[in-house]
Amino acid sequence: RSFLQTLGRVTLVTLLTTTGVFYYYTQKDRHPGPQEAFDPSKKTLVILGSGWGSTSLLKSLDTDDYNVIVISPRNYFLFTPLLPSVATGTLEPRSIMQPTRYITRHKKRRVAVYEAEAQDVDPVNKTVTFQDTSEIKGEGASTTIPYDYLVYAVGAETQTFNIPGVKEYGCFMKEMKDAEKFRERMLDCVESASNPNSEEEVDRLMHMVVVGGGPTGVELSGELHDFLEEDLKNWYPELAPKLRITLIEALPNVLPMFTRELIQYTESTFKENKINVMVRTMVKEVKPKVVVVENEKKEHVEIPYGLLVWAAGNVGRKITRDLMAKLPADQNNRRGISVDDHLQMKGASGVFAIGDCTATSYAPTAQVASQQGTYLARVLQQLAKKERLEQQLQTLRQENAEPEAIEATVKQINKASKIKPFHYSHQGSLAYIGSDKAIADLPFFNGNFASGGVATFLFWRSAYVSTLFSLRNRTLVLNDWLKVKLFGRDVSRD
Ligand code: FAD
Ligand code: NAI
Repeated sequence: RSFLQTLGRVTLVTLLTTTGVFYYYTQKDRHPGPQEAFDPSKKTLVILGSGWGSTSLLKSLDTDDYNVIVISPRNYFLFTPLLPSVATGTLEPRSIMQPTRYITRHKKRRVAVYEAEAQDVDPVNKTVTFQDTSEIKGEGASTTIPYDYLVYAVGAETQTFNIPGVKEYGCFMKEMKDAEKFRERMLDCVESASNPNSEEEVDRLMHMVVVGGGPTGVELSGELHDFLEEDLKNWYPELAPKLRITLIEALPNVLPMFTRELIQYTESTFKENKINVMVRTMVKEVKPKVVVVENEKKEHVEIPYGLLVWAAGNVGRKITRDLMAKLPADQNNRRGISVDDHLQMKGASGVFAIGDCTATSYAPTAQVASQQGTYLARVLQQLAKKERLEQQLQTLRQENAEPEAIEATVKQINKASKIKPFHYSHQGSLAYIGSDKAIADLPFFNGNFASGGVATFLFWRSAYVSTLFSLRNRTLVLNDWLKVKLFGRDVSRD
């Protein structure tokens, strides 16, 4: 009995302590204190975008050094790796969104956040023009502001190769609104198929086509399969056997960036899960109800679909193309902005470019963009230090200070001028493939460790939860996973 009493007490104390610590941290985050105002003597740092690159930069940036302005049409950070989970209702949208102000309000100095779209960058006069493109706007339709430093991190958009019908009839999987549209249409297909319809029409409505066998297409197909197995079968038993998932890929295999072993593992898992993988098949046109593909034999075939998702890679945004066109001598890489080893945009002094908008030797991933953002925070800090020391040197010279003092400052300036180039440290690639399985290609002990299966899935989940930027998001995601385990996915449609 005394053992049970002790155990009870220990449990109670642990529970109370954990709750107390949790409460303390949440409240600390909820009520940020006052911030210092903009300092006219500081330089202006403008950051374009609120994605992986910009948010990592903002997290590490010392705002004591600059007056910082963030411009982005999105007033939040989106944790893209879990976007396919939102598309199928495993996670709630807000669980993977973090308002940018939750970060900027914790900075020492005020950071101005404008929910607006940058429309033009003038690298000669060092200005950015932006516009509030939302439905409700104030009077400032278009504003131009000067910058001393600009961090250009506007990401990319989905590549359509101008294939007819993609934009009109397909869904994308890049932004939160895409995931919401996908979920809406997926449930619409199922509900419409439940209405009185011909057998042929039911087959068409229940056919979900994913174009692009990169990680986005693969993860989405896996998530769709989970939805079918775990929920559709319960609530639409007569329709569930009719749901078909087809993944179309132009190359000879899916996931070209993974090892041969993991590609085979994914393909065999998909086979088991009845996900039809059509490789060496190129989409040529998307019509309202059929997708036209060219197969290996160069024949054109029409495939009826209910929902089509387009995940065929990235292309630069218009603003990026316009900016590059202003610097034709230095910016002529069709993949994106060329930067030097310190992530400075070639030909544009004071402009740094990071993430998916750039053309580097790295893949366009969150891992790269976030490491670049953290690196830039250090660079900007070092630049501010150098400028402070240069001012100090000027004052020392004006005051005819001791030669030793001048020499020491010159040495410090030389040290601050030595900025290390960006170095990317690859932490490995992970992808969820459905039915509680994931694949991982991890760099271990100077070699690669390839693994797939349920244990890798648990590793995938813990890796993503720990990568989420805040305690709030971690709590919400864990809660959603638990909710789906207990009650399943919600199949109601707004
Ligand atoms: P983004 O994160 O796209 O941010 C761009 C920002 O710029 C956005 O805030 C946008 O609103 C803003 N913006 C756009 N236009 C303008 C404008 N005109 N003016 C101002 N701001 C503008 N990578 C991984 O490493 N691991 C993964 O598991 C992974 N999963 C993914 C899953 C999905 C579904 C997708 C789509 C991508 C995934 N990625 C993953 C890739 C990763 O999301 C990108 O590489 C990463 O988002 C790039 O960061 P970024 O800062 O360059 O761009
Ligand atoms: P992607 O560029 O990796 O893959 C797109 C695929 O679409 C290519 O394999 C291409 O051959 C195919 N394709 C293009 N046009 C086609 C057509 N007309 N018909 C048929 N197939 C066609 O794009 P994705 O998956 O959107 O990824 C973009 C970036 O984000 C990549 O760098 C990727 O590594 C990263 N990412 C990483 C994830 C992870 O690590 N888990 C998850 C999602 C994205």
